[in-house]
Amino acid sequence: MVFDIISAVPELLESPFSHSIMKRAIDKGLMEINIINLRDYGLGPHRQIDDYMYGGGAGMVMMVEPLDNCITELKAKHTYDEIIFLTPDGTTYDQKMANRLSLQKRILLILGHYKGIDQRIRDTHVTMELSIGDYVLSGGELPAAVLVDSIGRLLPGVLSDAASALSDSHQDNLLAPPVYSRPAEYKGEVVPEVLLSGHDKNIEEWRYAQAEQKTKERRPDLLDKE
Ligand code: ADE
Repeated sequence: MVFDIISAVPELLESPFSHSIMKRAIDKGLMEINIINLRDYGLGPHRQIDDYMYGGGAGMVMMVEPLDNCITELKAKHTYDEIIFLTPDGTTYDQKMANRLSLQKRILLILGHYKGIDQRIRDTHVTMELSIGDYVLSGGELPAAVLVDSIGRLLPGVLSDAASALSDSHQDNLLAPPVYSRPAEYKGEVVPEVLLSGHDKNIEEWRYAQAEQKTKERRPDLLDKE
């Protein structure tokens, strides 16, 4: 799967994909990430990419022309399954959407800064607008890292144990049950007996009950979700 990412601050994206599971996915050729510096499409000697807002108001807007030139060039070279703009006023991103997007071949991510991007880009190029939560970040780079990580780990072959992703919180609309590792007793705190029993069916039932109880307590809204 390929992610092309248009960013005005590409340095912010250097670390998230250079370590751990994301690095492995890239090294194995299961995921490709291309970061495109929007400055390269900036206008004039100062490579301008933002300007004042028509109608007045605080904050700058990312201009239509550099973004349009960049996106048009990319679209001439590649076919995109989705062109996603990350924005706090988008649809809330969730595991179901991560699952859905993990089936795509090539996605273009547009990352905003300042007050956002010229609406005409959203009207003419963007196919999906996503928010990672009800809070405002300084730009789309952290949300992009969240999106790529959550999708990347679902790609076949990325996790060494394929079942692992299926038992994560939010798959099946349940929060994950507690997990333990050695030692079986630490400072008087013990691992639940059932996990030491070797009885697979009982362990599965215990985990399910724990997941259900935690979800009821913390996120009852998930239990009504489709
Ligand atoms: N850009 C700034 N804040 C954001 C958010 N919450 N989700 C997606 N993109 C954003």
